[in-house]
This record gives sequence, structure tokens and C-alpha cells, in this order.
Amino acid sequence: MWGGRFQQGPSPLFERFNNSFSFDYRLLPFDVQGSLAYCKALERAGILTAPESKKLQRALRNLVNRIAARPRTLRDALPQFEDVHSFVEAQLVAAVGDLGKKIHTGRSRNDQVALDLKLYLRSESKGIRERLLLLLRTLTQNAEKHLDVILPGYTHLQRAQPIRLAHYWLAYFEMLVRDLERLESCSRRMNTLPLGSGALAGSGFPIDRQFLARELGFRRPTRNSLDAVSDRDHVAELLSCLAILMMHLSRLAEDLILFSTAEFHFVELSDAVSSGSSLMPQKKNPDSLELIRGKTGRVYGNLLRLLVVMKGLPLAYNKDMQEDKEAVFDTVDTVFGSLEMATLVLQTLKLDSHAMARAALASHANATDCADYLAQKGLPFRKAHELTGKIVRYALQKGVPLEELELHEFRSFSPLFNEDVRKALTLERAVESKAIEGGVARKFVQKAINNAKHVLAQIE
Ligand code: ARG
Repeated sequence: MWGGRFQQGPSPLFERFNNSFSFDYRLLPFDVQGSLAYCKALERAGILTAPESKKLQRALRNLVNRIAARPRTLRDALPQFEDVHSFVEAQLVAAVGDLGKKIHTGRSRNDQVALDLKLYLRSESKGIRERLLLLLRTLTQNAEKHLDVILPGYTHLQRAQPIRLAHYWLAYFEMLVRDLERLESCSRRMNTLPLGSGALAGSGFPIDRQFLARELGFRRPTRNSLDAVSDRDHVAELLSCLAILMMHLSRLAEDLILFSTAEFHFVELSDAVSSGSSLMPQKKNPDSLELIRGKTGRVYGNLLRLLVVMKGLPLAYNKDMQEDKEAVFDTVDTVFGSLEMATLVLQTLKLDSHAMARAALASHANATDCADYLAQKGLPFRKAHELTGKIVRYALQKGVPLEELELHEFRSFSPLFNEDVRKALTLERAVESKAIEGGVARKFVQKAINNAKHVLAQIE
């Protein structure tokens, strides 16, 4: 491909070190897609005749079909070619002879790989979006089913206040909707065509870039050739968005891992997503969730890997940038798998709603409601807080929950207490008193479920 200037071939060691075909073969469909459009542009520029362009396009389509029919062709070729671009070109030459050598007129592998990667990311972003939508739908369905399941909410991992399980699921819905929005904004920014930028200075041939942009579904051509071939912002952005997405999945995984312990006993994972122990016969381990949590590290690592590769690069293209691809491929695979796994875990999760309700009542998780009760009767909240703290200490010493104290005991702390205090301390009241936008009262959680369904309907 570039032997003319050289007197000696590459050493096998260098060749192996330099080659990227073993992984960038994944760009093949996109490389062909770009070349198909490029044939048409070459024809418009008068570099190919119409029959030549047709012939090349036919050969490109044949190549894709041939590989689809016999994947071994590709596997066997992997050690023999430098990268996906040289492979496609060599196949063209093999199919149509010297005509195949015209395809690279006015093009560089630098603008070519920039294009391929954008086409790849555009396609995989759709796959991520579809999987994310499935998970969002599952969270919404779970929220609908669990509107009246009450569990303790935590701060500092200490029981804090009772909440509805639906509200908990919808918290993850909110996070993941933000992820979806971030992905969409990423896709919008990456939607410019690098092809026609040549190696770095633009193409020496009258390639109609507006035409190419339309052909390949880009908003417009890139405006600066130096930037176009050396820009990997879209990779960094996408990996950042996916790192945040994985952080959310990892937190969900961590919650459910805790909730599935004997200590909590709120949920049980389906056998289908758990594994046992080779030694301890009684064990059921939440490996699916642990792997989501663990693989988050891999995605963070890939983001860092890309940022570090890019940080010292002089303009424009440098071979260092070949190192971007494995980080991207690995991230996409990991995110696909993690989204699918999280969805399956949620779809098959079993609940122990009694254990949740018991835990929500225990540990004086209704103490805030006692303080609110006093504040509603006119006591300044700070005083109500202190007084309730004392009542909690008293209840702890006595070994009973707040709501089982006698009225005279309450009244020994404050005359503001009446018979209705017992009702104010029920689980039901604890959640229903949060009747506020974004709060856990039934009406507002129902409203949030309706909103989630509305959001999903608008997206799909
Ligand atoms: N395999 C290369 C990459 O992934 C393609 C571009 C090569 N360009 C070059 N001037 N050597 O970045």
C-alpha cells in the first residue's frame, strides 16, 4: 500500500505490532458503506466513469455478501492485512483489477478511519439506546407493580424514612433518562462528515462533500481538515456518557446485592441470574450484579485510556490514535451486556415485601413523622426534633417502637401530644405525609409513573 518509497519490507515484529486488522475488522460494514458513497463522489468528480463506479460498487457489495456467507474468509485474512482499509482495497483490486486502485484517489486512511468510526458509533449508539429503553420500560413496569410496597429509604446506609418501592425504581428511571439524553446530545454533535479532509489538508480532487454528507446521513461536512482527522472528541464524549451510565447500573447492582443478603432479605435474585458455590452447598451468589459492578471499572478504564492517548498528540493524525478502537469496542460490548443483564435481573426479581415493611417500621424510621407532628402543632421544628430525639432514646431504653408508647408517655414529654399521634406514626402516614411533587405519597408516585410512561411514549 505504501511500498514505493521503501527498499525493505517491514520486520515481522513491526508488522504484528502495527497491524490493527485483528480488531478493526469490526469496522468493515462501515468502511464499505463509506467507500460506496465515495465511489459516487469520485464519479461526480469525473475521476470514475459511470460504469467504473458501478463496477466498484458491485464489487464492494459482493465483498460484504461473500463475507456474510463465509465468515471464515474474514477470519483467515486477519493475520494477513494491516487494517480493515487495506483489506477492503486489496479485495477490490483482487475483484476488479487496476480499477480497484482508483478508489483511494483523494482519500487518506486518516479521513477514512475518522468516518468509519463515526458511522460505527452512530450505529452502536442506536443499539445502546434500544437496550436502555428496555431497561427504562422494565423499571416503569416494576414501579407500577410495586406502588404499595414500602421499604426503608437509607442515608449513610442507615434506615432513614419509609419510601415506596415504586419511588425507588423511578429514581433509577430518572438517572437513566438523563443518560439517554446525554447519548442523544453526543450523537447530535458527532454528526459531521470527516471524509474529504484527506490526510490532513483536504482533498486535491473536487470531491462534493455536501453530496457525501447527504449520502451518508451527516448534517454537514466538518469545517476544518486538521481537526476532522485528529478529532476523537466524540469517542471521549461517548465513553464519558457510558461511564456515567455504568455508574448508575453499578449503584443499582450494589443496592440489590445488599438487599439480597440474609441481613436485608428484601429481594431474591432468580436462579437464572445467580450462581452457586463449588464448596458451600447453601450459597446463592448475585454474580450477575457483581459483574455489572465490576465491569464498570473496565468502562472507566477505557475512558481514561482514550483521554491519556489523546492528551499529548500534536496535530493532526498520529498512529497513537489506532489505540482508540479497542477501548470503544470493549466499552460498547460491556454496556450492551450490562444493560441486558440489569433488565433480566429486574424482570425476574422476587420481593419479600413483609421484610421490607418490617424494616421500614423498625429502627424508629418514623421519628421524623413524630417531629413533624409536633411542628404541625406549632412547636418550632428544632425543638420538635430535640424532643423526639429524647422520646426515641426513651423508646430504645424501653425496647419498643415509637408507635407502641402509651399516650401518657408521649404526654410526659409534651402536652401537644393527643390520641392522633399513634396514627401519625403509622407506615402509611409516614409515606402519605410526603404529599409533594417528587415525594413518596401515593398520588405523587402515581403521577411520576404516569410521567415515566409519557416520557417513554414520546421517545419511542
Ligand atoms: N489503522 C489506522 C487507525 O486505526 C488507520 C489510519 C492509518 N493512517 C495512517 N496514516 N497510518 O488509526
